[in-house]
Amino acid sequence: MESGGGGNDSGSGSVPGRRADEALLARTRAAPVLAGPLPHLDPAAVPDAPGPLFAQWLDAALTGAVPEPHVMTLSTAAADGTPSARVLILRGIDTADCAYDFASDSRSRKSRDLAANPRAALTWYWPAQGRQIRMAGPVGVLGPDATARDFLGRGEHARAAAFAGPVSAPLSGPEQYDEALRAARELVAAEPGRVPATHTVYRLRAAEAEFWQADPARFHVRVRYERRAAGEGWARTLLWP
Ligand SMILES: Cc1cc2nc3c(=O)[nH]c(=O)nc-3n(C[C@H](O)[C@H](O)[C@H](O)COP(=O)(O)O)c2cc1C
Repeated sequence: MESGGGGNDSGSGSVPGRRADEALLARTRAAPVLAGPLPHLDPAAVPDAPGPLFAQWLDAALTGAVPEPHVMTLSTAAADGTPSARVLILRGIDTADCAYDFASDSRSRKSRDLAANPRAALTWYWPAQGRQIRMAGPVGVLGPDATARDFLGRGEHARAAAFAGPVSAPLSGPEQYDEALRAARELVAAEPGRVPATHTVYRLRAAEAEFWQADPARFHVRVRYERRAAGEGWARTLLWP
């Protein structure tokens, strides 16, 4: 595709042109990826279910000082199929059931997607270990006790932010945010046990899970699990990476 910038690479306020894009791409290509040393995954030695393997890998990420291993990408799709993705914090783990929780505001785009289409995907990438995990499945909403526990376990600033305004709605500017946050801080100080009606904790119960272990020599290992009918465990397949 031709660049719309007409080759204009510099100049204050100009859109970077083709040469600037090429220079950026050259630097991008030079960035190392999956450089190692990386752990090895023996596909013959993985657990029968994905929950314990996720727990092992998260434990290793925490021990290995992977930055923010609890940050994950949530992908949803609207009723018309329009996809969207964003990063969230992992808020709950049920290893036995291979289910994972996240929390958000019911007015957000992701929540609207989930109301219309209660299925989603979660992705983790831990570069220091060359590991990607993908999970996908139906998403449910947890009850009021779990919601209150999740919300009240947060620090004061996080709680105030949740009261401040409708996530994903247009904001007129920083003043509107400051004003709403000030009022929300007063509310949290006055009523420390209050939980916003919009705070929602979701649980994704994996129907499928995939573990991808990079190898610096490119002998990557990719193991896929699929949940069988109720109580019948998981089917496991090795996939071409
Ligand atoms: C590191 C990080 C952690 C985040 N954690 C959350 C979270 O736990 N819940 C949440 O609703 N948004 C979280 N966000 C903000 C979301 O990425 C997103 O911007 C917001 O939820 C609105 O998304 P939506 O309009 O697609 O619903 C986080 C953002 C970052 C960068």
